[in-house]
Amino acid sequence: MNIIVTGGAGFIGANFVYYELEKHPEDKIICIDKLTYAGNMATLDEAMKQESFSFHRVDIADRAAVYQVFEQEKPNIVVNFAAESHVDRSIEHPEIFLQTNVIGTSVLMDACRKYGIRRYHQVSTDEVYGDLPLDRPDLLFTEETPLHTSSPYSASKASADLLVMAYHRTYGLNTTISRCSNNYGPFHFPEKLIPLMILNALHDKKLPVYGDGKNVRDWLYVGDHAAAIDLIIRKGASGEVYNVGGHNERSNLTVVKSVLAALGKDESSIEYVTDRKGHDRRYAIDPTKIQRELGWNPTVKFEEGLEKTIKWYLSHQAWWAPILKGAYQNYYEKMYANR
Ligand code: NAD
Ligand code: TYD
Repeated sequence: MNIIVTGGAGFIGANFVYYELEKHPEDKIICIDKLTYAGNMATLDEAMKQESFSFHRVDIADRAAVYQVFEQEKPNIVVNFAAESHVDRSIEHPEIFLQTNVIGTSVLMDACRKYGIRRYHQVSTDEVYGDLPLDRPDLLFTEETPLHTSSPYSASKASADLLVMAYHRTYGLNTTISRCSNNYGPFHFPEKLIPLMILNALHDKKLPVYGDGKNVRDWLYVGDHAAAIDLIIRKGASGEVYNVGGHNERSNLTVVKSVLAALGKDESSIEYVTDRKGHDRRYAIDPTKIQRELGWNPTVKFEEGLEKTIKWYLSHQAWWAPILKGAYQNYYEKMYANR
């Protein structure tokens, strides 16, 4: 099978590429990535050595370029990870999120219609459901929870989900959608909570916690997300949505303290900073459907996954040092200097 993976030079896309290359060596993986600030060819170094892997530097919103890749590579399945993915950046520049996350999704699905692709899979997020209150631990997001977004990022992802459902119903496109909770693991761009805290702690910098630090995220090790998507594209039913999560709720403050403890640092570096605008309070996924229908289960416990992740950052300075020296420095200054 020929599988197009968009956004494969980013965090989850790359982890999925490596998962597929190992689990299904008989398949061909074709990566499409624009290489924005979040895309990194160094992440794909090992994949580039394999014959069954190819790479195209293409913007998913560039119709002519996307059609050309489909024409050349003749894919059977398309898995769309490519997105602008950071909530804080979406608050500064919503327009880029609409262009990639909404227009890009429609271009990819048009290509799927034009070239008769067997399955289009949209990698979505639990953030499309909005947030849950902290004082109702009994409430979880199911696939039936109404879409109710808070940030330009989540609104763009929800818009894309609605388009996917519309293409399924109107054109009979064979589609699936996965909505996963927060991921963590190797190759996570340093702007996100866990890698940011690991790298700041390593450099004895302040650890900026937004608001009161009580916001809750439901953390899943990235390899478990890759395994879920692999199952969905091969066994999931067309037109369906699958929630993905491992019942791993943690407050941000708890996560930050766990990082410090694992690195043997005290908590004096924690600094409470101005809250994110529209900050979602709590996310929590009910994964019953994918467990029951596809037999998926998370395999990595949070403590084990965090330890693996920290070890990975400790041993991959060559991956993150160039990122910290580049445009990320300006981003960090702008976002955190007067917060
Ligand atoms: P990321 O920001 O690390 O990577 C995104 C990748 O997409 C980068 O390689 C970037 O170069 C590429 N890209 C961006 N715009 C593009 C365009 N116009 N054309 C082609 N490529 C483009 O993101 P991530 O964290 O790996 O997230 C991947 C997907 O998973 C996203 O769709 C995101 O919404 C979703 N998701 C993420 C999480 C999470 O915790 N990170 C959780 C659930 C769902
Ligand atoms: P993030 O990793 O940006 O993921 P998302 O917003 O998609 O959940 O943030 C995770 C949580 O951590 C979120 O509640 C915001 C918070 N956060 C901080 O407190 N400080 C930070 O520097 C960052 C980047 C995030």
